[in-house]
Order: sequence, then structure tokens, then C-alpha cells
Amino acid sequence: MRLVVCGGAGFIGSHFARVRMREHGDEVAVLDKLTYAGREENLKDLSSQDGFRFVHGGIEDPQAVARALDADGGAPADAIVNFAAETHVDRSIAEPDAFVRTHALGTYVLLEAARERGLRYVQVSTDEVYGSIEVGTFTESSPLRPSSPYSATKTGADLLVQSYFHTYGLQASICRGSNNYGSYQYPEKLIPLMVLNALHGDPLPVYGDGKQVRNWIHATDFARAIGCVLELGKPGEIYNAGGPDEVPNMDVVKRILELCDADESLIEHVEDRPGHDRRYSLSSAKVRALGWEPRVRFAEGLEQTVAWYRENTWWWEPIRSGDYRAYYERQYGRALS
Ligand code: NAD
Ligand code: TYD
Repeated sequence: MRLVVCGGAGFIGSHFARVRMREHGDEVAVLDKLTYAGREENLKDLSSQDGFRFVHGGIEDPQAVARALDADGGAPADAIVNFAAETHVDRSIAEPDAFVRTHALGTYVLLEAARERGLRYVQVSTDEVYGSIEVGTFTESSPLRPSSPYSATKTGADLLVQSYFHTYGLQASICRGSNNYGSYQYPEKLIPLMVLNALHGDPLPVYGDGKQVRNWIHATDFARAIGCVLELGKPGEIYNAGGPDEVPNMDVVKRILELCDADESLIEHVEDRPGHDRRYSLSSAKVRALGWEPRVRFAEGLEQTVAWYRENTWWWEPIRSGDYRAYYERQYGRALS
């Protein structure tokens, strides 16, 4: 297939581009605005391969979208897979405007471009659209109860995608993932933040009591689930892809400390996130029925992820010595070492 992968310079999008080119022989054009989270180095190993193209631009810019879709001289794209988003809940609480622009306007521009050209469309979404669940697990028909500006704007984008199926017959599907982890994840998120702090001897800031539960999925497993929905999913349908393990935050943090040979005295309980969702849990029965299953259990995936951050200082050093420091000080009220 010839794919346009929007947001492909980010964490999950770059794993998806790699999986599709290596395992399926797809051609990939990445369209990415290169926000703080978008990093061309995430695609370093793909950039010189035949069939790969990078287009710098925002999904809310129709001309940039056209440049990515209508390759000059080459064959036009078959499908759009949209990962492009602002993705950090804490940033959405502090500064929601970019979330509204990218998720609402950006998704609209992509849907219009797909409609004009009759393209297949997959929207990458999140379990956070369902809100928090104390017991049990969310299915695709659970009510939408987003609680942060991040999840509310992602929900809005999902509803717009569904409206393009119902109104215009666009061949669009949605794939909602649980919390992802793995290599190339920007260190504002729980796992890489805690790993880098543990390696540097910085305190590990645990929000509230640390008993919140997340349903962890390895990014390569989520990437394969999205590929499965792209190929086999029905237009108009939603598919949840949850990981095989649910783990309280405090257990994740303690295991990271062990893997980094660091001491539990680094744990620091800090003020809780406003509106913090207590637990996420996704049933993946529907995407499993298409033939997908997760390959990586959390215990093994976490060990590999910590090893990756230990070995790939070239990747995170420019981040940890750059704008991220100012973000960290704003968010946590203290400087990194
Ligand atoms: P990320 O923050 O690592 O990457 C987002 C990418 O989108 C970056 O490359 C950024 O430059 C790009 N981008 C942002 N705004 C853009 C715009 N207006 N136009 C073009 N590009 C833009 O995010 P991620 O963790 O890889 O998440 C990818 C997708 O998966 C998102 O839609 C997110 O909602 C969804 N998701 C993430 C998780 C998770 O745990 N990380 C879980 C479920 C679903
Ligand atoms: P995060 O990685 O931001 O993902 P999400 O909010 O999408 O689940 O956070 C995962 C969990 O870790 C969440 O319960 C909040 C918690 N957390 C902390 O306790 N401390 C931190 O510094 C961060 C970033 C997250």
C-alpha cells in the first residue's frame, strides 16, 4: 500500500512506519509538523530507504496535506493513517489551544482530503475517550466520557470521523489504544520520565497515591493492531486495542528503579493531576477477531525499554538538555539535575 502517515515522526507513528515498511513492503510518506514531540531522528533508519518520503507540515494546512497525498509524478496515496496529535494530558491542562486546533481542525482537513480523493482513512485514538473505569473493561460501545482537554478533543475528532462515514460514505475506521510504551517515547510520559530521572538520580514525581492503574501496550503491538484495522477493519467501525497487562503506577515506578539500579528513596509523592483518571481498561475482543494479538508482555517490554533508554543516550540527551528542561520546571516546580 501507499500510506500517508500523519504524525509519523512521533513515538507510535514512527513505530508504525517501520512496521509497515519492513513487514509489509508499504510505501510511506510521513506528514509531520515537527512539534516538540516530533523528531526526525525517530525515522533515521527509514529516511534513506526507497519508498519513504518526509513532508514537513501541519494536518490543518490543506496545501501540506495535498503535498503528502499527491506525490509529484508518483502514484497517489491509497490511505491516510492519522497519528498527528498533541498527546500529553498535563500539557492539555496547562495549554489546551493546540489540542483544539490539531484535533478538530486538523482532523477535518484530513477527512476532506480523503473524501475528495476517495481514500481509506484510519484515525488513531485512545482509551481516554471512555474516561475512567473502577471495575470491568471498556468495549467499543461504552459511553464516551472524556475528562481532560486532551481526551475531550480526541473524542471530538472521533465523532467527526464517524460523521464522515455516515454522511459521505468515507471508508473510515477508528483504532483506540491503551497506554503505549517502548523506545522513542518523549520523556514527558510516565515511563521514560521515570527512567531518565532514575538514571540521573533525580526524584521520581508520583502523582497522588500512585494507585492509578494503566493498561500497558507495547508500541509495536499497537502499531500492528492499527495495521490490522487498516487492512481488515470495516469502514464505520471502531476497534479497541488494549495491552495484556494492567499495572498500578507505583508498581511501574518501583520496577523501573530496580532496572536502573536506583533506590526507592528517589520516589516523591507530588500533588495529583487535576481530574486524574483512576483506571483505564480496554477489551480487545473485536480486533482480536480480525487476527491481532499482543506479542509483548509488560514485564519483558519494560525491561527492553529501560535497556533501550540506557543505550540510546544520543536520542534523549538533546531532549533532556533542551526545551524539556523548561517544561519540567514549569510542570514540577523544580529543575532537573
Ligand atoms: P507523540 O506526541 O509522540 O507524537 C505526535 C506526533 O504528531 C509528533 O510527531 C508531532 O510533531 C505530530 N503533530 C502534532 N501536531 C501536528 C499537526 N498539527 N500536524 C502534523 N503533525 C503534528 O504521540 P504518540 O504517543 O506517538 O501518539 C500518536 C497517536 O496515538 C495520537 O493520536 C494519540 O492520541 C494516540 N494514542 C497515544 C497513546 C499513548 O500512550 N502514547 C495511547 C493511545 C493512543
Ligand atoms: P501519562 O504517561 O501522562 O499517560 P496518561 O495520562 O495518558 O495515562 O501518565 C501515566 C500515569 O502516570 C497517569 O496515571 C499519571 C501518572 N504520572 C505520574 O504519576 N507522574 C508523572 O510525572 C507523570 C508524567 C505521570
